[in-house]
Amino acid sequence: MSLLIFLVLILSIGASSASNATNNKRFPENFLWGCGTSAYQIEGGWNADGKGPSIWDNITHENPNFIKDGKNADVSADSYHKYEVDIAMLKELGVNFYRFSISWPRVLPTGFPDNVNQPGVLYYKNLIAELRSNGIEPVVTMYHNDLPQTLQDRDGIKNPDFVDWFAQYSRFCFQTFGDDVHYWLTINEPYVACTIGFYSVVYVDGIDDYVCMKNFLLAHATAWHIYHEELKMKGKVGIVLNSNWFEPETNSTEDLEASERTMQFIWGWLGHPLYKGDYPEIMKIRVANRSKLEGYNQSRIQELTSEEIAFAKGTNDFFAANTYTTSMVKRIPEAPIGTPSHNKDLGVESYQPSNWQSTGLDWLKVVPWGMRKLLKWIKNEYSNPPILITENGYADSTGELEDTSRMNYIRDYLSYIRDAMEYDGVNVIGYSYWSLMDNFEWVSGYTAKFGVINVNFTDPERTRTRKLSSYYYEKVIRNRCLVDDCQD
Ligand code: GAL
Repeated sequence: MSLLIFLVLILSIGASSASNATNNKRFPENFLWGCGTSAYQIEGGWNADGKGPSIWDNITHENPNFIKDGKNADVSADSYHKYEVDIAMLKELGVNFYRFSISWPRVLPTGFPDNVNQPGVLYYKNLIAELRSNGIEPVVTMYHNDLPQTLQDRDGIKNPDFVDWFAQYSRFCFQTFGDDVHYWLTINEPYVACTIGFYSVVYVDGIDDYVCMKNFLLAHATAWHIYHEELKMKGKVGIVLNSNWFEPETNSTEDLEASERTMQFIWGWLGHPLYKGDYPEIMKIRVANRSKLEGYNQSRIQELTSEEIAFAKGTNDFFAANTYTTSMVKRIPEAPIGTPSHNKDLGVESYQPSNWQSTGLDWLKVVPWGMRKLLKWIKNEYSNPPILITENGYADSTGELEDTSRMNYIRDYLSYIRDAMEYDGVNVIGYSYWSLMDNFEWVSGYTAKFGVINVNFTDPERTRTRKLSSYYYEKVIRNRCLVDDCQD
């Protein structure tokens, strides 16, 4: 650590302990600390050793304009070749777990387990073994956006057969890696995948997004049943839900209702079927009403059958949440009937005030207080589930090493998390900072950097350098506390 970094660290920690706002209570001894990444974003080796193409390989190659800087993740941070360096850094940070994802087309190039790519399997076996030998728990996402292109050629997630494809893939993962993996995440951010991400380009708004979410729900539930009932394995299986906290603009009944409606439409879309059974009532009513007025003879929401409702309910062993920011929300007049749209079905306006602290990404404003409200909502809505925060992080555009803003973000968000545990009795079991290192940030390419570790993308060696925030996070993990003067 350079002297400069050391001095800035000491000064900033000093400042933080002086601040009344920062919670100074120690986190519980069994609290899990981690960092996250995903395969497409860090691995590179896009066609190495028999890997098949994913939809992200194809879209970045065929349509570079889709990406802000026109770049792709063919090499990215090259973790396919450098995973040992990554693990050494995780070890330095002192994390308890590492959240990474398996690239489906790296292990099953055609998407199906009758064609296994052994070098791909070996890569993850080595990664998992190396983590374990360093005392780091692997937390493994099975699907993080990189669908095998072969399956997209068959209509991807909106094909009802997706449920069976995912069942085969998840069974393969459980059987191949399950002895050494005890925390499984089936699908990352279905809401984003079906509405905003890749699928917003190929899928029809207000129609295919409902099909996509239903198939993800049933795919997840099927994997959960395979794991617990067919294979009788002993670990835990969850799905990663995500979004913002939605703060009502005023205390009016209309805005309070708009806030709750948004939470139900986004978090509740799959949260409700998983914990309470079926889609949220408000969602069913609104989508059915608008569908009818638009001339559809059944609701675009894709109603679940009573068998499907029973099958999906209770299939989340812990609540995995990705969350970065907050939005304000208010009631607006009902949109005229016309072309279907998910946003019109929701029917509210959300925005982020311009005076909120900005970051390297438009959608990501720094609003730490929203974290506590979100956690409290999840606790109350779903009867106090164990919550694992699987993503939370700060982006800048430079990857700068003296990243005090990121350090403050980590401190302030964790402070509200600690508050939620202490004052609201929320059962947060762990926190995973996104991301371990700078990487390919989807449509933003390399223009947004989230890492606590800098990666030099112009260097063939992809040299990694620790940022200031990594030293702060290391200290937080070591002391289980955000400030120097901690209370037990
Ligand atoms: C999430 C996603 C991650 C990461 C992060 C920052 O939506 O799961 O892959 O990119 O956002 O934008």
